[in-house]
Amino acid sequence: MDLRDENLEKYILEHIDSEPEYLKELVRDTNLYTLKPRMLSGHLQGRILKMFCSMMSVERILEIGTFTGYSALCMAEALPETGELHTIEINDEMEDFLLQLFEKRDPSAKIKLHIGDAIQIIPTIDGWFDVVFMDGNKRHYVEYYETVMPKLRLGGLIIADNTLWDGHVLEETRDAQTVGIQKFNDLIMSDDRVEKVIIPVRDGMTLIRKIKN
Ligand SMILES: C[S@@+](CC[C@H](N)C(=O)[O-])C[C@H]1O[C@@H](n2cnc3c(N)ncnc32)[C@H](O)[C@@H]1O
Repeated sequence: MDLRDENLEKYILEHIDSEPEYLKELVRDTNLYTLKPRMLSGHLQGRILKMFCSMMSVERILEIGTFTGYSALCMAEALPETGELHTIEINDEMEDFLLQLFEKRDPSAKIKLHIGDAIQIIPTIDGWFDVVFMDGNKRHYVEYYETVMPKLRLGGLIIADNTLWDGHVLEETRDAQTVGIQKFNDLIMSDDRVEKVIIPVRDGMTLIRKIKN
């Protein structure tokens, strides 16, 4: 069974929670105004992220890599009134778009946008996180992991995206993004502080649960 089969994908999308109308609009805007619209999570992954956040009874979420805000809005759906989602985007050209989007779609201002490099910004955010969604530059997943682990509560979950990198993880290569993901996958495998499982959805998603400090 090929999970990328278009008919199967259509069937899946017809049999899961529907994509809210405002997110469909965001997909259209992302296609119109950005050069790499494929970076957006999309319907299936967005619903998966929301469900994991709900199952974790999240109060505080961290996201590395906001892009056009799709995954941030999906995860924020799971937050209680008192909850917060901190999302970090390095590309400052996205700032005006994101501030306007969050003002419109997140009226209670649970989403806190940080513009800059996640590796610099994470240590400046106070408090623990229940869930971290790692979706930034694939070259730096190892550094992101080392930076977020001290901030992840015991029992907390890291969801790392693109960890199969279109199958390139099987290749011997010098491509920096592939090497970044391979090193990350090897590090997670050898880290006994965490439980880990790779879900072969889309481009691969690793679930990493902290079980030891
Ligand atoms: C795959 S996109 C994120 C997609 C988004 N999470 C979604 O699902 O819709 C990756 C984003 O990470 C950003 N990025 C790359 N390196 C970063 C870093 N060090 N800190 C923060 N953001 C970073 C990129 O500019 C890009 O917008």
